[in-house]
Amino acid sequence: ARIREYKWDVKYEYRSPDCYKKLVITINGRTPGPTILAQQGDTVVVHVKNNLMTENLAIHWHGIRQIGTPWFDGTEGVTQCPILPGDTFTYQFVVDRPGTYLYHAHYGMQREAGLYGSIRVSLPDGESEPFGYDYDRSIILTDWYHKSTYEQATGLASIPFGWVGEPQSLLIQGKGRFNCSSPGMTGDVCNTTNPECSPYAMTVVPGMTYRLRVASLTALSALSFQIEGHNMTVVETDGHYVKPFVVQNLFIYSGETYSVLVTTDQDPARNYWLTTNVVSRNATTPPGVGILNYYPNHPRRYPPTNAPSGPIWNDVKPRLAQSQAIRAHQSFIIPPPATSDRVIVLLNTQNNVSGYRRWSVNNVSFTLPHTPYLVGLKQNLLHTFNQVPPPDRLDLTNYDIRSPPPNPNATISDSIYRLKFNTTVDIILQNANSLVLNNSETHPWHLHGHDFWVLGYGEGKFDMANDTKKYNLVDPIMKNTVPVHPYGWTALRFKADNPGAWLFHCHIESHFFMGMGVVFEEGIEKVGKLPSSIMGCGEARHYNRP
Ligand code: C2O
Ligand code: CU
Repeated sequence: ARIREYKWDVKYEYRSPDCYKKLVITINGRTPGPTILAQQGDTVVVHVKNNLMTENLAIHWHGIRQIGTPWFDGTEGVTQCPILPGDTFTYQFVVDRPGTYLYHAHYGMQREAGLYGSIRVSLPDGESEPFGYDYDRSIILTDWYHKSTYEQATGLASIPFGWVGEPQSLLIQGKGRFNCSSPGMTGDVCNTTNPECSPYAMTVVPGMTYRLRVASLTALSALSFQIEGHNMTVVETDGHYVKPFVVQNLFIYSGETYSVLVTTDQDPARNYWLTTNVVSRNATTPPGVGILNYYPNHPRRYPPTNAPSGPIWNDVKPRLAQSQAIRAHQSFIIPPPATSDRVIVLLNTQNNVSGYRRWSVNNVSFTLPHTPYLVGLKQNLLHTFNQVPPPDRLDLTNYDIRSPPPNPNATISDSIYRLKFNTTVDIILQNANSLVLNNSETHPWHLHGHDFWVLGYGEGKFDMANDTKKYNLVDPIMKNTVPVHPYGWTALRFKADNPGAWLFHCHIESHFFMGMGVVFEEGIEKVGKLPSSIMGCGEARHYNRP
């Protein structure tokens, strides 16, 4: 195993990812940031210099479990204090499993400002994947806002509530195209001839098979991704091999990664469209387009066809069907424990708390404490967060998930779930109607520090007596991010076997900001000595001594 060492300079710069000029966060001058390439078992060391000048920072390694290094998860408020402007923080962790992962900012709504990138972990030399391919490529899909994260966050936390609205564009690997002839745009702010916003082009050689790693780090949008004229065979997700299945549209939610195999077997005399479009919301955001460039055609040459349109936004059925089609590859099944020790049912609701719009689970709307949980728990600083745990479930017998909540009030709290070490925990995510009549959103839930087995998805209200019998205990996929579909439920199982404090939250940036998350603690007594570098805030300050 090797050490992969990186030095990152994080700062604000003016960029025009979709032709509209605004401040974005770059790493060594780039957004998306540099791809981390490593082999299973390698140690990744990243020295992060915060050159944002007036803003804190934290970087999360999404999908990396941080076994033995819970303090380097990069979750501000949970596992560390923020990195102050001018400071350098060193992350060091082992990538113990091959697959497709991500990194991104985890402070405030900073991810949306462009601080993100790919982590690709390959197999050790001499080992091979359960599928063949000639080349390996990564792309990240994002949605893009022209307003700063500050304007967005301020609106979300104000009375009256200021919603961030639909994103202005969709980016494929950091490139998109806004219509600069929209009202109010001037040439110095928005310029479509700027080469920065030429569509992303992926150059391919005809007659080859590509492993394309597609990830989503959208702030809000659920997406569908298409490659004109080409099928995609799904073979991996979140670092786990999938029983292969073929799609034309790949539905992908924020925080998910997929590997798909694509064979370049179409007419080589032309290029093809890569497209992505919003589903689950009636968005005004135009589709994002890129070019699949068949070598030796010119990469800027537009395909002779119109970009194909994606699936209709409000049809949940094909999205639910794709979720249900994802099973573990038969040679890589990790059987889940047959039963669980604890079942936590998390009702997802939108709420009104003293005039503030919030999101909640079980009527508790999450807020981060000033002292990171990892420090508060390890040093036994019990006054640093609310010690009364949130409820494991609410009595939903009379709750109508298809209507807005009858009592939209909720409690704002930093209380957490404490799990018994090494026990098996089931989580049922129960979706419901938002505050708006006839509206239920798709929420992609992401668990830090673990993978979970996906035991099932269903429509309507979860039925403890009957739906548990339909769990897939034979070949469930393991993932770290999973959607709960509108008016539906999703059932997960995981082992609480990674000592630390771990965030579990909706990966929609504004939803987490508005309280849609919980924290799990397990085995805190087994956590080793905390590095002093994570302690520079709240009560943690007093422990910041060598
Ligand atoms: Cu990728 Cu806590 O998130
Ligand atoms: Cu959400």
